[in-house]
Amino acid sequence: MKIDILTLFPEMFSPLEHSIVGKAREKGLLGIQYHNFRDYAEKARHVDDEPYGGGQGMLLRAQPIFDAFDAIEKNNPRVILLDPAGKQFDQAYAEDLAQEEELIFICGHYEGYDERIKTLVTDEISLGDYVLTGGELAAMTMIDATVRLIPEVIGKESSHQDDSFSSGLLEYPQYTRPYDYRGMVVPEVLMSGHHEKIRQWRLYESLKKTYQRRPDLLEEYELTAEEETMLAEIKEKND
Ligand SMILES: C[S@@+](CC[C@H](N)C(=O)[O-])C[C@H]1O[C@@H](n2cnc3c(N)ncnc32)[C@H](O)[C@@H]1O
Repeated sequence: MKIDILTLFPEMFSPLEHSIVGKAREKGLLGIQYHNFRDYAEKARHVDDEPYGGGQGMLLRAQPIFDAFDAIEKNNPRVILLDPAGKQFDQAYAEDLAQEEELIFICGHYEGYDERIKTLVTDEISLGDYVLTGGELAAMTMIDATVRLIPEVIGKESSHQDDSFSSGLLEYPQYTRPYDYRGMVVPEVLMSGHHEKIRQWRLYESLKKTYQRRPDLLEEYELTAEEETMLAEIKEKND
């Protein structure tokens, strides 16, 4: 995957040099390039200006962003504008982005940008219902969530299939050695070696956690007959 990032602060992206994303870059599965649009400003590196009609703060000017965008070598990329008013980022969207060959992220700053920048983009995306100082942290979060879904980035492809949200449910509880830690023991079923019972226990725990913490997810989720029976039992015990 090729990712180009338009930003005034390329140095903020050093976290993407480490851990799983850093390794993906070392393995050549991912290339990331930064484009500081200040370098493209025609007037003395001047990237912002006052809003027409008055108002507080400064807006990013269209010219440096258009010129930085034009200078990128590209072939039909998804172009993502970071914007608190955009569609909210989620796991399904990360899965969609992970299918792409080329992504471009445009990071806003200050009070925002000249509206005409939106003619460059395919997607306007928000990280959540809050306002950050710039798009950099939002872009990094989206890149991290997307890159780990590229086949080969995380060893076994199956390691993210059970993740919270991937299946539509929250993930079941997990344990590792030792069996007994400070008197807290691992559920017996996980020690049984009985694959079918372990599968059923995990599914039940996933449904229980989702019902208790995120019942909204169940509204979208298509239950199997087995899951319906389990959920009825969970509801009976909880109510
Ligand atoms: C201070 S914000 C501007 C907020 C703008 N005045 C508004 O009310 O929508 C500066 C930039 O940070 C980025 N940003 C802020 N919050 C964000 C969020 N929740 N998701 C994605 N990007 C965000 C956007 O690129 C935005 O243009």
